[in-house]
This record gives sequence, structure tokens and C-alpha cells, in this order.
Amino acid sequence: MIAETLIEPTPTIEWADGKVRLIDQTKLPLEETYIETDDHLTVCDAIQRLAIRGAPAIGVAGAYATVLAANRIEAEDVEQFKKTFTEKAEAIGQTRPTAVNLKWAVNKMIDRAQTFEGSVVELRDDLLDLAHEIRGDDLGRCHSLSLHGAGVIPEDANVMTVCNTGGLATSGIGTALGVIQYAHAQGKDVHVNVCETRPLLQGSRLNTWELKRTATPFTLITDSMAASIMNIHDLDGVFVGADRIASNGDTANKIGTYSLAVLAKHHSVPFYVAAPLSTVDFEIKSGEEIPVEERAPSEVTRIRDVQFTIEDIDVATPAFDVTPAELIHGIITEKGVARYPYTTSLEEQRNAR
Ligand code: MRU
Repeated sequence: MIAETLIEPTPTIEWADGKVRLIDQTKLPLEETYIETDDHLTVCDAIQRLAIRGAPAIGVAGAYATVLAANRIEAEDVEQFKKTFTEKAEAIGQTRPTAVNLKWAVNKMIDRAQTFEGSVVELRDDLLDLAHEIRGDDLGRCHSLSLHGAGVIPEDANVMTVCNTGGLATSGIGTALGVIQYAHAQGKDVHVNVCETRPLLQGSRLNTWELKRTATPFTLITDSMAASIMNIHDLDGVFVGADRIASNGDTANKIGTYSLAVLAKHHSVPFYVAAPLSTVDFEIKSGEEIPVEERAPSEVTRIRDVQFTIEDIDVATPAFDVTPAELIHGIITEKGVARYPYTTSLEEQRNAR
């Protein structure tokens, strides 16, 4: 746990008495309810339904889900336990395809199990320790990157963001929204234009809830207002998160992010991505290799089960788009602000102590 965060961490995901406790983000902001479970399949379902969401948060949820799975494995010996654990963990890692943090965290759990020497009981304890470590590590990375990012926000600032990248999307502090809230907590006069984020409204449902908690001034806008706001106001930055960043800096994030980057370029507004280095996939060269998740058509044709278009129509449902690295003014990580060309600057950050 970080000694002093500048904002109160959001209670996104916790471990208590052998269970995972998640705030149910499908219910926010109208209801603040929690899912408590000792069944890893319930966590997988929560990840798929976006009851827990945001790249770093699903990484942490995935790690805890592997611990729940481990707790229910009945094995004759430790080798058989490791084999079953690996199969279950791999399935957990596939619950959502785009955010690399999920695979990153689950692979850490698998590696630990594979190399562990000791009894099944000891291994279960060790896996829980590692999941706690992954959660604490995420909190620390988000704290550091929010401090670095707040540094690029002027004293009197008007900024824009999309999707929810606050504490709800991480272990508690956030990335892009963490940067903005940290600048506010430092006493800067910050105002944020919050894009509602169609179709699942992470902006209007979740950012408004988080920004109210920290009393950060904001205006909710529809996604289609972004161009006009950039034209009328002199914005100081667009701050977004990331689900996966390729080695060259191409960034997959919530659908609509790429449009904001193009608009920002046209209006000479600096466009920043904020993400921990665990979101960088150093194994892929460019955004062309990032798998983009397709969601159910009902997420576009309905809101909370209320249908507002005719049935049997063709609907496009990509959850993410990829912003080319050339449009990104800086990538804010826990190590500082990386600048173009990112193949070099991200690699330098990766190797920096
Ligand atoms: O589909 P979601 O809500 O999980 O999408 C989340 C995003 O696109 C976030 O911007 C990203 O995961 C970064 S969260 C710190």
C-alpha cells in the first residue's frame, strides 16, 4: 500500500475472508452494491459483463480469480495441482481479449505456480500473496503515473477525457482520470469535459460518480460534442487510458478514442495516453497485432434492456479502437512521460530502475 495517495482510493476490488469483493460497476451510479464470491467463475462472469472493467482492474481481478480457482482444486499431488491450475488460469486469461493486463497478471500467477517448490497448501498461500502483490503494485504504479501526469497539467486547465480510467478501472487511483484528479488535489484549477462514452456510458455513469467523490469540477458531454468543444474552448489536453499499447506506441483504448486523437491534432491540443507499463505489450510491434473485442449487438441497440431500434439489423460492436502513435503527444507511465518515437522511449522506461 502506498503511504500517501493524493485521493482516497476507490473500493474497486478487495480480498476478505477467502472471497473477492468487487464493486458492481453495472449498477453504478444509481446503486452502490458489491459482488462477493469464492467462485472464480463468478469473477469471470463479472469481467465479461463489465461488472469489473478497465485494463488494470481486470488484471487484478484475474489474479484473484486464479486464487479462487486454486482453492477449489482437489489434486492428488502438487504436479497434478499445477497442471489443473494452469488450465483454469489460462481460461481466466481469455475472458476479455484486448486488455493485456489480464494476460500479464494471469501469466505471472501461472509462472509462479510452475516454478514453485513445496506443498499444495504452501502454493495456495503463495498464490494469494502474489495476487495481493499485483494489486499493491498496480496501486503504486497508478499513484506514480498520476503524479507524473499531473505535472503536465497547467495551473488553470480545461481538459477532456473518454471512458472511465479512474479508481474504478484500477486498484483504486486510476490512470488518465487519476492524473486529472491528482492535478485537482494539488490545488490546480482543473475542469474536465467528460465524454459520455457510448455505448456502455462509462463516462456518464462512472466518471461522474468518481469526480463527484473527489469534488473535481466537470461537465458531461455527449461524444459527438467533442469537436465543437475543442473548437470553442482552448483545451490544455486530452487524457485517455489504454487497454494495450504496442511497442511502437500505437494504443488500443475505448472506441471513440481515435476520433478524439484526430480532433486533438486538428485543434493543436496535446493528446496524452496514461497507463502503467504493464499495459505495454512489448511482444507486438504495432497496433495491427492488437485483438479488438467485439461485444454483443444488444449493447448498441439497448440501454439497460430497453430496446430503441428495430430488430434484425446489422450492428457494429467493436469495444476499442487503435490510435496511431504519431497522434500521441506523450505516454504517461509510472516511470515518467515517454515521447515519440515510442519504440525507443518505452524500451528505455522498461529498462529504467
Ligand atoms: O470496456 P472497458 O470499460 O473495460 O474499457 C476500458 C477502457 O477502455 C479504459 O480506458 C482502459 O481500460 C484503461 S483503464 C485505466
